[in-house]
Amino acid sequence: MSAASVVRRTSLALLLAAFGAALAAPALAQAQKAPAASSSTYEPTSGQEGKDVVWVPTPQALVDKMLDMARMTPNDFVMDLGSGDGRTVITAAKRGARALGVEYNPDMVELSKRNAEKEGVAGKASFVKADLFETDFSRATVITMFLLPDINLRLRPKILGLKPGTRIVSNSFTMGDWQTDQTVTLTQDTGCSASWCTAHLWIVPARAAGTHRIPQGELTLKQEFQMLTGTLRAEGKTFALEGRVRGEDVTFNAGGRKYIGRMNGKRLELR
Ligand SMILES: C[S@@+](CC[C@H](N)C(=O)[O-])C[C@H]1O[C@@H](n2cnc3c(N)ncnc32)[C@H](O)[C@@H]1O
Repeated sequence: MSAASVVRRTSLALLLAAFGAALAAPALAQAQKAPAASSSTYEPTSGQEGKDVVWVPTPQALVDKMLDMARMTPNDFVMDLGSGDGRTVITAAKRGARALGVEYNPDMVELSKRNAEKEGVAGKASFVKADLFETDFSRATVITMFLLPDINLRLRPKILGLKPGTRIVSNSFTMGDWQTDQTVTLTQDTGCSASWCTAHLWIVPARAAGTHRIPQGELTLKQEFQMLTGTLRAEGKTFALEGRVRGEDVTFNAGGRKYIGRMNGKRLELR
């Protein structure tokens, strides 16, 4: 095992231990409760208790990279699920997008609002005190999160039901057997020297599975998340195919040819 993967595994174990402790010991969590919300001098502590996940901030270099990977533009509506001190929402707002942080801890919500004010983006960056599991995030075009693997899995069905093309970026934690569309790990050279330097991107795929008539013949597609397999029946032959769906864009190879198309609702339109 490489030194980097030992460090990654150790960091993961430490965070999971911290997260696990908060879950397993509500009494301790209660005892560690943060200061009152009214305090404008409230300072959070990395590792402090949270409803389902402790607070550990994403390094700013990774926040920047996560929004780069999502190809965020000012037209996007960004939501950070479990928004902590507001850094991702504030960064998105500074880049011109409207952004909303959902955070269960009211002290963190107030801190985020003050931070947005200080950074001059209170008009674009909003924060709501809410449980992410009870939040409608269907308006988001970009979702960011730094939660836990099992929470990502619980959110996955809802995420897969979002508009095709919605970008999801997670700090460090994956989404079970839904492979990432991109994974980037920052290094010291690229501005991330501590833990939590890996970001994963998924793009919600359109539903392409089924049978489609195309000019070349008949296409039968099976879909596992963004991955396609199936057959193309053309000129009396059957060709196996492999491809993928990226938002509404569909590409596949069959019979030595590459096909490019787009889902228009339930219809596949080839270019
Ligand atoms: C690991 S921190 C990430 C903070 C921020 N997104 C970042 O990347 O810097 C997770 C955050 O989720 C919040 N949280 C935990 N459970 C939550 C829930 N059910 N609903 C909303 N927020 C929650 C915690 O209070 C904490 O601030």
